[in-house]
Amino acid sequence: MSKLSKKILVTGGAGFIGSNFVLDWLSKVGTPVINLDKLTYAGNLENLASIAHDKRHDFVQGDIGDRALVKGLLAEHRPCAVLNFAAESHVDRSIHGPEDFIQTNVVGTFHLLEEVRSYWSTMATEEQSRFRFLHVSTDEVYGSLGAADPAFNETTSYAPNSPYSASKAASDHLVRAYHHTYGLPVLTTNCSNNYGPYHFPEKLIPLILLNALAGKPLPIYGDGQQIRDWLYVLDHCSAIRAVLEKGRVGETYNVGGCNEKTNLDVVHTLCDILDHERPKADGHSYRKQIMYVQDRPGHDRRYAIDAGKIEKELGWRPEHTFETGIRKTVRWYLDNQIWVANVTSGAYRDWVAKNYAR
Ligand code: NAD
Ligand code: TYD
Repeated sequence: MSKLSKKILVTGGAGFIGSNFVLDWLSKVGTPVINLDKLTYAGNLENLASIAHDKRHDFVQGDIGDRALVKGLLAEHRPCAVLNFAAESHVDRSIHGPEDFIQTNVVGTFHLLEEVRSYWSTMATEEQSRFRFLHVSTDEVYGSLGAADPAFNETTSYAPNSPYSASKAASDHLVRAYHHTYGLPVLTTNCSNNYGPYHFPEKLIPLILLNALAGKPLPIYGDGQQIRDWLYVLDHCSAIRAVLEKGRVGETYNVGGCNEKTNLDVVHTLCDILDHERPKADGHSYRKQIMYVQDRPGHDRRYAIDAGKIEKELGWRPEHTFETGIRKTVRWYLDNQIWVANVTSGAYRDWVAKNYAR
């Protein structure tokens, strides 16, 4: 059997975090990437346009649940690691239609794990100990915090509240079990809300930016006092690299930015930056476009991450504060209007009509 290559297999690498990770990996590490992505509505090859002719990047359109395809890719490329970003990721979509979430996040991850286990079991002992399966997960598996509760740490009990978070929790448990039962060298990261370039505009930050610029209402669910712990996406990517390189096998690592903000604060910040960067012709603030809409069913009130373990064990810390990251993000959206125009056509528009009908 041939030796492990230096390649990594990334799943979901045409989505928001996956594409940022692939671009960052090629510029910082530089070993080849096989990128397996189904190209659902959330997958966008334009995110990867800058590496379209880069021989180190091999894009394959396909499903993580397609066992024959995954088996063939593993046998052909012999990657030294598999990083699983592929998922259905939007809570509101999971409320309207949970089935795809179960299919990809639970069943798909199971099939991927089975093929990775089969591939891993053929390796020599030394290669087996070098190989890694890194599963990218979310803080939402821990459920919702009260205002005075301590932040989530790696021993917080799982209490997922949405079909999305329940499906991610199920996948985390499968990953854990494959280590405990079969010895597969797994790592899991549970990260807080990300923001940054290439973020699909169904999620809060890009949606608000694009609606603001288009003169549309800025929808705030409920009272807007829900809290999220925001992390700039490239800080998430550096955390994943640190865990891949130095994380202890079988462990989970929480990743977060210590940036707890209410949704209303986030929207106010975006409006204030736009007022400065792209003042409206009528002289009004973008804040005037804020509109309170019906709350999300089962809406989690607060997420907060205790990132003490990854900092202490692996020396990881975020480089961006919310203030620096959000300014970069607004700038990126203003400077990338072609990406924005292309992504806001087609399927995305249908989804907006359906979600905000309520
Ligand atoms: P995303 O929705 O932007 O991208 C998901 C990607 O996975 C898309 O490119 C899609 O085409 C692909 N995909 C979906 N189903 C697939 C399948 N069956 N086979 C192959 N590819 C498939 O999601 P994201 O925001 O980039 O999130 C990536 C991962 O990070 C997810 O696992 C998510 O749970 C996790 N995460 C996200 C956040 C966040 O704030 N966005 C925070 C923490 C963790
Ligand atoms: P979102 O970006 O969907 O991420 P998640 O639900 O995974 O945290 O939403 C972030 C927060 O913003 C969440 O509390 C829901 C809220 N929200 C709104 O108030 N209005 C919106 O239009 C959207 C999409 C989200």
